[in-house]
Amino acid sequence: MKKIIAFMTAAVMTAGLLSGCGSSSAEATTAAETTAAATTAAETEAAAETEAAAAEAAQLKTVTDGILTMGTNAAFPPYEYYDGDKIVGIDAEVAEAVAEKLGLKLEIVDMDFSSIITSVQTGKVDIGVAGMTVTEERLQNVNFSDTYSTGVQVVIVPEDSQITDVDGLSGALIGVQEGTTGHIYCSDDYGEENVIAYTNGATAVQALLNGKIDCVVIDKQPALKFVEANPGLKILETAYVEEDYAIAVSKDNEALLAAINGALKELTEDGTVQKVLDTYIKAE
Ligand code: ARG
Repeated sequence: MKKIIAFMTAAVMTAGLLSGCGSSSAEATTAAETTAAATTAAETEAAAETEAAAAEAAQLKTVTDGILTMGTNAAFPPYEYYDGDKIVGIDAEVAEAVAEKLGLKLEIVDMDFSSIITSVQTGKVDIGVAGMTVTEERLQNVNFSDTYSTGVQVVIVPEDSQITDVDGLSGALIGVQEGTTGHIYCSDDYGEENVIAYTNGATAVQALLNGKIDCVVIDKQPALKFVEANPGLKILETAYVEEDYAIAVSKDNEALLAAINGALKELTEDGTVQKVLDTYIKAE
């Protein structure tokens, strides 16, 4: 709030300088004074721009003032995963760039994927960024930003599996990440009794390696990472479902949604988003 007042005062002062601030003294203005006034006006303008960004941030209501709190589930490489004790990946970088545009500091909170939407709704976090697919059902509970990436559900099987395409999923025991679209689609298509939900993709893949399940349905990019890290597994050629990823924002914070979409638009147009995607996803 203080910043907004400061910004307004600066603006009023600038207006005063430009209008000459009175009449009789106008003729008495020396060249030096005019230059000084012009310099001050330019400085004020530059300061005003910085202040404007800060003022925008001050107007954005976030869970903690000045901070953009992001909920994620950091077991989903290359979108979010741990590098030492730091959460890195596509979502971390995109969110960092968005936060910077909004004049906010990013803070990431790791949680179960199935808790993210509720955390956004209840104001525990400002945004959910987790390779999260836009679905009709989720749209009942949160708003979604514009899409910044796409995904596709694929099937991981042991190299010697009998399952050769998506049709082979009928009758198979399918491992999924709890609360994800893979979980929902498989339960709908193949029956809940044939689906086992794990807390995250890594534990589902571990169960597959241990022979507890026949396959894992998960988003393609993490699937590639899991298969790369675990010999003996492969991804079926035929994809299951295609999806759009976006940032979840509380329905009570339309201003934040608009600001995020504005930032995403700029970051898409200037190539930042594509650069981040290219860093983590190798061209096929
Ligand atoms: N795209 C899927 C979904 O939205 C899976 C996302 C899982 N993300 C994660 N960070 N674990 O349901």
